[in-house]
Amino acid sequence: MSDRVRIIEMGPRDGLQNEKTSVSVEARVAFVEALVAAGLTTVEVGAFVSPKAIPQMANSDQVLRGVSHVKGAEFHVLVPNEKGYDAARAAGAGVVSVFAAASEGFSRANINCSIAESIERFKPVLARARADGVRVRGYVSCVLGCPFDGEISPKAVADLAKTLWDLGCYEISLGDTIGVGTPLKAKQMLRAVGAEIPAANLAMHFHDTYGQALANLYAGMEEGVRVIDSAAGGLGGCPYAPGATGNVATEDVVYMLEGMGIGTGVDMEKLLTATNEIAGLLGRPPVSRVAAAINAKSKRMASDQ
Ligand code: HMG
Ligand code: MG
Repeated sequence: MSDRVRIIEMGPRDGLQNEKTSVSVEARVAFVEALVAAGLTTVEVGAFVSPKAIPQMANSDQVLRGVSHVKGAEFHVLVPNEKGYDAARAAGAGVVSVFAAASEGFSRANINCSIAESIERFKPVLARARADGVRVRGYVSCVLGCPFDGEISPKAVADLAKTLWDLGCYEISLGDTIGVGTPLKAKQMLRAVGAEIPAANLAMHFHDTYGQALANLYAGMEEGVRVIDSAAGGLGGCPYAPGATGNVATEDVVYMLEGMGIGTGVDMEKLLTATNEIAGLLGRPPVSRVAAAINAKSKRMASDQ
């Protein structure tokens, strides 16, 4: 397995959206700056959703404006409807992401509508984005299981992914929202979606609740997928996905890929600077195994001197 993988960094959005500690706009901007300095050239920086639903993402307009001076990176934001699109555009968004779910239970809990209704909400967003020259990424959540509806069929995932693709999304990110998947199931799901959409236009967004995310990513790479969503330090989770933990950690992904000779363009040392800074603000060490190992090694080396 050779070539390169593109990492979409989720730390400032998925990573912070479920945190009890509120993080200031300045700290969110500094986090994005540190991630870009580490070589992460695509970063999801916020969400234009209801601040009553997700107070952690309030002021995403200020964050997006705050990073506008950062060169060499592309910034993504979530938009659930036209209201979110308007606000995102007013703040200068050039790429937006709509988010649907492969299960009715999660769709209802997360965005307060059925899957079919969510598609109706996205249609005007995609039409306007096309006219505005804005690219739209599409998420499908619960691709390997739902906290409310249980098992999800690969066909249900493929059908919804195809709907978003046909509406004009340039890339479909497949979310194992609650991190329950295992490699063969991930492969089956990706094969079903891959029969509808080129693998080059798919991304894997795997949460690591059961510790399977790296294995699932490897399985997905064997199916030809080369875009990975991950969050610095393994931050993340969704308030509407009970029991779910963070995204697969960017450090763990980078360590695995670089070890396989696959380039990511990410500087591990600088990434750890970003991770440790935000972990300090949140008041707990990163859950990433690689971050823990490298931090412990640095501490040993410092005490040996
Ligand atoms: P709704 O109640 O159906 O919408 O919510 P509504 O149109 O009836 O409006 C209700 C209120 O929300 C009104 O305010 C609207 O103005 C306001 P009120 O009159 O009560 O004061 N509103 C908005 N405010 C700001 N921005 C907007 C917006 N739209 C309406 N865009 C809605 C629908 C989607 C807005 C709501 O359910 C919501 O915001 N949900 C949050 C969803 C969310 O952010 N979830 C986490 C991200 S998804 C995720 O984590 C999964 C992912 O990582 C992939 C994976 O892991 O699987 C992407
Ligand atoms: Mg997520």
